[in-house]
Amino acid sequence: MSTATKTLLSGVKPTGRPHVGNYFGAMRQVVELQDEYASFVFLADYHALNFIQNADQMRAQSMGVAMDYLAIGLDPAKVVLFKQSDVSAHTELAWIFDTITTVPYLMRSHAYKDAEAKGHEVSVGTFNYPMLMAADILLYNPDVVPVGADQKQHVEYARDTADKFNRIFGDTFKLPEAIIREDVATVRGTDGRKMSKSYGNTIELFASRDEIANSVMSIVTDSSGDRPKNVYAIHRLLKSEEELEPLYGANTGNYKALKEVLIEDLEFLIAPLRVRREEIATDKASVMNILRAGAEKANERAEKKLKEVKEMIGVK
Ligand code: ADP
Ligand code: TRP
Repeated sequence: MSTATKTLLSGVKPTGRPHVGNYFGAMRQVVELQDEYASFVFLADYHALNFIQNADQMRAQSMGVAMDYLAIGLDPAKVVLFKQSDVSAHTELAWIFDTITTVPYLMRSHAYKDAEAKGHEVSVGTFNYPMLMAADILLYNPDVVPVGADQKQHVEYARDTADKFNRIFGDTFKLPEAIIREDVATVRGTDGRKMSKSYGNTIELFASRDEIANSVMSIVTDSSGDRPKNVYAIHRLLKSEEELEPLYGANTGNYKALKEVLIEDLEFLIAPLRVRREEIATDKASVMNILRAGAEKANERAEKKLKEVKEMIGVK
């Protein structure tokens, strides 16, 4: 673990193969900050239980996301990497928060409103999600919480909950700050909408060369304007405006040539990640050891905080 004095915490849902939008919007931040902060990163398997209700799939996807992070450069010597379900203080503190939180307040959450709008019968777990997330965060007293733009409201819920607890029981929790990279807040997919698994418009982060080529060739281009904006938007993630200007200037209207360059540039990013991911997958025992050691360190820290909370509320 780093000797940094400030703490970072982030959680990731084990939701299947990550895409380039997940990478630029969320995953990369954690790796970029690991030297600067004492970092805790966990796999949010109890959050995922709201929609993954199959034991084999849960196991495979939890291991999968751990390997994804290791492949993009998360260093387990610097970061405490663990599974949420291995640290029971998360669910215990979530219950305590439930008792100081009101139903109307949780009904204002975007995630809940979206699920309702889709006509789903929302599970109690989905409804309570912000309180489990508040517990995930506040147990570790983090200074910063790097998240994708869509998680901003959840971090605000954690801050509100910390503040409310402190007002009722006395000063216990630090109010964390979200870190959101606005420049990559919404990475666009092959059809120009937000890149998302649910839209089928993704470029996968560990794609093979052929998969990259297929995804890029499927990028929707239109002939309005002088450059294919959906191709350019993805290209901008990889290269600066100064680098792209001459290329797009010289190939006005030649979408195929521009897509071919984009394939090469994506391959340049992805090939080393793909190789590293394959290597890691040959040694699952090491990944399990990393998670086990991470759980031990996380438990130590979380239990200490939970004890303090129990004293504040008068059950200890
Ligand atoms: P998806 O929409 O594909 O299901 P998730 O909801 O699992 O993605 O997102 C996981 C993380 O990746 C979240 O923190 C989210 O903010 C980030 N993320 C997802 N899609 C994008 C995108 N297109 N641009 C930027 N960040 C994204
Ligand atoms: N809700 C986050 C997501 O959907 C995952 C998450 C759970 C999280 N707990 C967290 C992120 C705590 C940051 C901090 O992506």
